[in-house]
Amino acid sequence: MEYWKWLKMVVVALIMLGEGWRNEGCLEEERLALFQLKPFFPSIDSRIFDGSWLDRSMYNPIIDSWLDRPIYDSIIEEKETSSDCCEWEKVECSSITGRVTHLFLNLTRFSHDLVHSYYIKPVNIEYWYLNTSLFLPFEELQSLFLRGNSIVGFVDNQGFEKLSSKLNKLEILDLSDNYFNDSILTSLSKLSSLKSLNLAGNNFIGSNPIDGLKRLSKLKNLEILDLSHHNYIANISSQLNDFSSLKSLRLQDCGLVGKFNSFINLKELYLGSNQIESLGFSSYDKEQLRLNKLEVLDISGNLLNSSVFSSLAPLSNLKSLDLSFNNLKGPIHIEDLNAFSYLEKLILLFSEVTEFVPSQGILNLFLTLSFIYFLRNN
Ligand SMILES: *[C@@H]1O[C@H](CO)[C@@H](O)[C@H](O)[C@H]1NC(C)=O
Ligand SMILES: *[C@@H]1O[C@H](CO)[C@@H](O)[C@H](O)[C@H]1NC(C)=O
Ligand SMILES: *[C@@H]1O[C@H](CO)[C@@H](O)[C@H](O)[C@H]1NC(C)=O
Ligand SMILES: *[C@@H]1O[C@H](CO)[C@@H](O)[C@H](O)[C@H]1NC(C)=O
Ligand SMILES: *[C@@H]1O[C@H](CO)[C@@H](O)[C@H](O)[C@H]1NC(C)=O
Repeated sequence: MEYWKWLKMVVVALIMLGEGWRNEGCLEEERLALFQLKPFFPSIDSRIFDGSWLDRSMYNPIIDSWLDRPIYDSIIEEKETSSDCCEWEKVECSSITGRVTHLFLNLTRFSHDLVHSYYIKPVNIEYWYLNTSLFLPFEELQSLFLRGNSIVGFVDNQGFEKLSSKLNKLEILDLSDNYFNDSILTSLSKLSSLKSLNLAGNNFIGSNPIDGLKRLSKLKNLEILDLSHHNYIANISSQLNDFSSLKSLRLQDCGLVGKFNSFINLKELYLGSNQIESLGFSSYDKEQLRLNKLEVLDISGNLLNSSVFSSLAPLSNLKSLDLSFNNLKGPIHIEDLNAFSYLEKLILLFSEVTEFVPSQGILNLFLTLSFIYFLRNN
């Protein structure tokens, strides 16, 4: 008898403990703050559609053409709305402090009610202004994804600078595919904890981002920067030298023309879909030493010819080189590749390269090279 009583008490205590623990999973203050976000990001508490199966080629931020495509039932897997916001589909909390650490609000401007029809319509595809104060309660936030939400600016003209004093753990910020103009750059330059910043596909048209980039380069922890799909910034490469901590830079489809010579302390550089004719990584330029660390270079879809190999020679640590969709023609002399002792991957899709002509000293290359993707366009 005593035993059963005791056991019952233990069980009840365990249940209470469990519940207490669960409630701790979502701080009341943060739960309220999340509910305040819900009118702006309606699908925050369910897995309606995160668009992850969409690729950019289907997505046109101007006409939102994909929004009228049918969505298949299997993709719509709605999660029950839970009072523990840490269980919400687009929220992640720290298991130790129970506080919100990640908010995946990319493509969350979709109406709840319309989900059960075959077509998903956005709540409001019109431009709107974000109130950054809504994020102030999330003091332990590390990642914030706001991709593809039609945001054009901030209410009261107060941008991310407002978050700088409180959100000092914020490391990843994704603002891609919105309508921000280059004034966002200044607004972001106070977020000193940022390590990764994605600004691809915003609306810097007709602006001069040089001053903004100068301010942004004060982010001394920034390692990954994506400025792709801005068909205007042709002229910013010298500004990028100031980003001393940068390891990965994407400038795809940026209208970069002619000669590209920027010397940055990078490991990865993505320059696809521009109109670059030559690369100025001159071996005589002492500045070039700063690119010695480059391991991944993607310059596909430019106007380079086979002379590119000699200009790349100073990049002796390259592991992966993508030269697809350029004007490479005829044979490639293996000796031209000799400088790349660590090359593992050479991608040459849709070039008119006819053959690889061997020569002495080819051993280096074939010791490391494990892939050549090589596809002729005729
Ligand atoms: C939203 O961001 C997360 C983190 O990068 C990613 O896993 C997810 O696929 C993204 N969804 C979209 C639609 O980009
Ligand atoms: C922005 O959000 C904060 C916090 O919810 C609120 O106090 C403030 O009134 C909002 N400002 C505007 C202009 O909506
Ligand atoms: C850039 O956006 C801000 C905020 O929306 C706005 O106040 C400013 O007028 C815009 N600047 C230009 C040049 O459009
Ligand atoms: C690039 O910028 C420099 C000065 O910052 C300017 O003199 C030059 O005309 C610009 N070139 C182009 C193509 O915009
Ligand atoms: C290859 O490109 C370089 C740099 O633009 C140019 O100087 C050279 O004339 C080109 N060679 C051929 C065969 O087109």
